Amino acid sequence: MNVSVIGAGYVGLVSALGFCKMNNNVICVDKKIEKITKLNRGIPTLYEEGLEELLKECLQSRNIMFTDDIRIAVEKSDVIFITVGTPTLENWEVDLSQLNEVIREICKYIKSYKVIVNKSTVPVGTQKYIKQLLVDKGVNEENFDVVSNPEFLREGKAIYDFLNADRIVIGLDSERARKIMEKLYKPFNIEIIFTTPETAELIKYASNAFLATKISFINEVANLCDKVGADIEVISYAMGLDKRISPEFLKAGIGFGGSCFPKDTKALVKIAEKYGCNFKIVKSAIEVNNNQRILPVKILLNYYKKLEGKVITVLGLTFKPDTDDIREAPSLYIIRRLLDMKAVVKCYDPKASDEIKKIFPDINCYPNIYDSLEGSSCAIICTEWKEISSMNLEKAKLKMKEPIIIDGRNALDLNKVRDSGIIYFSIGRKRQNLKL
Ligand code: UDX
Repeated sequence: MNVSVIGAGYVGLVSALGFCKMNNNVICVDKKIEKITKLNRGIPTLYEEGLEELLKECLQSRNIMFTDDIRIAVEKSDVIFITVGTPTLENWEVDLSQLNEVIREICKYIKSYKVIVNKSTVPVGTQKYIKQLLVDKGVNEENFDVVSNPEFLREGKAIYDFLNADRIVIGLDSERARKIMEKLYKPFNIEIIFTTPETAELIKYASNAFLATKISFINEVANLCDKVGADIEVISYAMGLDKRISPEFLKAGIGFGGSCFPKDTKALVKIAEKYGCNFKIVKSAIEVNNNQRILPVKILLNYYKKLEGKVITVLGLTFKPDTDDIREAPSLYIIRRLLDMKAVVKCYDPKASDEIKKIFPDINCYPNIYDSLEGSSCAIICTEWKEISSMNLEKAKLKMKEPIIIDGRNALDLNKVRDSGIIYFSIGRKRQNLKL
């Protein structure tokens, strides 16, 4: 089929390549010309497992093109996917300005029937809103259907998730569009849930908010573990063996970050509010996370009382390993607090040194983990990168001024920590192993 994807961010680029891999002709549009130039040359614009190889494979097949010309995309496609950013505003509402802009552009070029599919995470009612916008702009109702098709891919595993999703959710109100979407997705051999647009839109928020709540729940249990001397890892394992609970998303730490959970939890609270519902449980999940992500600073303050002039190393900046994404990462909140308290911050991250310098130009990033620990009075682990969890603790201890590690991701092996004699704090792990 002829497919176009508008917006070459995470979801857009991965979807474009995924549809190409599934033997469709794809046009991928982005208004940033430097992005287009890179992609047409086979240079990935984001770090993602398998992306470079798939990009090259797709370009070689000649079934994909990247362009900034939305007109070609609209004219040559049967199905147009919209995959633009929908960030959160200050008041927790969803910013639909990029989506509005794309719809306005699409309107100019629709001459024959198109299925317009929204893949961006949007508030309930957006499918109806897009339909109305198209009609208001003078597009003939015969010439389009609007479909909601939320995406559930995880960063770092995005290509795998796109091609092997647990489910495909499609919200629509037209038989004609249903046949086309069925044809497009049938080769994926994944269960498709056809439902109303409102249900599809809400499935995305409900799924992400549930997972975020699960993380906040286990983090609260971990905090209790620290008080009573219980072990969160045994608790998570035992809970996870109950099939009704499942072992996924029970890893305690300094909370969730990234481009989805923080944004989607707030949006769901706001959407619920709009319809007179007080979504208490999600509000609490957000509050727990806000506290959890700065827990290492509280532990540190409790230990040192004041941080002025202390050299503190932040190990790992991204919101999780295997990505270069630092959006809403707990590390950002920790660094900001440390700087506010006049600590000297040093950092190590295998992928995000350049990004962090854009936000905190005055902190020093090191390409080597041990250099970042030189003269440090504490290391805070914010991301469980392999390089960090497998670091040589004896070597680390020798470099540090005071050998204190606050492990915000429970990443280090407890036996190795005990043998190294490092002063160690973690999130809810058994205390009797530790020299405090
Ligand atoms: C998430 C959803 O998983 C995905 O379905 C959706 O499409 C987008 O949002 P992503 O943001 O890529 O994906 O990250 P994910 O792997 O889900 O992790 C999110 C955050 O939760 C990370 O900061 C991670 O460190 C944290 N997390 C995850 C925990 O703290 N504990 C866990 O057990 C799992």
